[in-house]
Parts: sequence; structure tokens; C-alpha cells
Amino acid sequence: MMSESIELQNVLDTFEDLWSPRIVTQFNDYDVRVAKFGGEYIWHAHEDTDEFFLVVDGTLTIWLRENDEERSVTLPKGAVFVVPKGMEHKPVASDGASILMIEPTGTLTVGDRHEDVPDYIDATTGHRLA
Ligand code: NI
Repeated sequence: MMSESIELQNVLDTFEDLWSPRIVTQFNDYDVRVAKFGGEYIWHAHEDTDEFFLVVDGTLTIWLRENDEERSVTLPKGAVFVVPKGMEHKPVASDGASILMIEPTGTLTVGDRHEDVPDYIDATTGHRLA
């Protein structure tokens, strides 16, 4: 287990890939991941887990689909939001954003149900830091 402090900005400086989370640290059975978002993600849902977002930099909009209705929440830098398990959601970061996420280790970024995954999206359970 990591026992040194980790500067998020230093981790973010190690990669440019969009929609490709890095695992910063772990606690209990959870990963803390950071990712760079840009443009539109795909609609997806995580059946068995809530998903925690913290906007480290930029602005993140998360579209949510509930009872066939769509709404969005717009999160400025410093805001946190939790997508409840089972809820379809679609992150959008038109101007780019750096995001910290917390979710159970092994959680797939594209969820258990999702639209077709385009080439620019990395379907992953997170990448370990080099
Ligand atoms: Ni998700």
C-alpha cells in the first residue's frame, strides 16, 4: 500500500489520453482514479455500484437518464457528485476536464450496460501508474 503523499497534478501531468483513468491509490476495496475528459462519453450504467466524481479542473456535465427522462448536472471545479448505481449516465466535458473518481476496484469505465464503444474511449478497469 502506498504510504507517500501523491500530488494529483503530478499524476495528471504523466499522460494526455482522454477517457483513460489512472489508478492513483486504493483504500479498502476501492480505487481512486484520475482521468482527463474531453468531448462526449457514451451512455452507460454501473449496475452494482455508485460512482463518485470530483472535478479537479475544468467543468463537467453529467447527463442522467431516469424514468426515460434526461437531465444534466453541471459541475464546476471543486464540485463532487455521485451517480447512483443502475442509473444511466453520460459525462460530457466540452472544454476538457480533469476528474477524480472513486469506485470499487475492478469497475469497468463503460459500465455493465453501454452504447457501442468508439475507438477514442478506453474500456478499462483503470491503469496503474508507471
Ligand atoms: Ni460511469
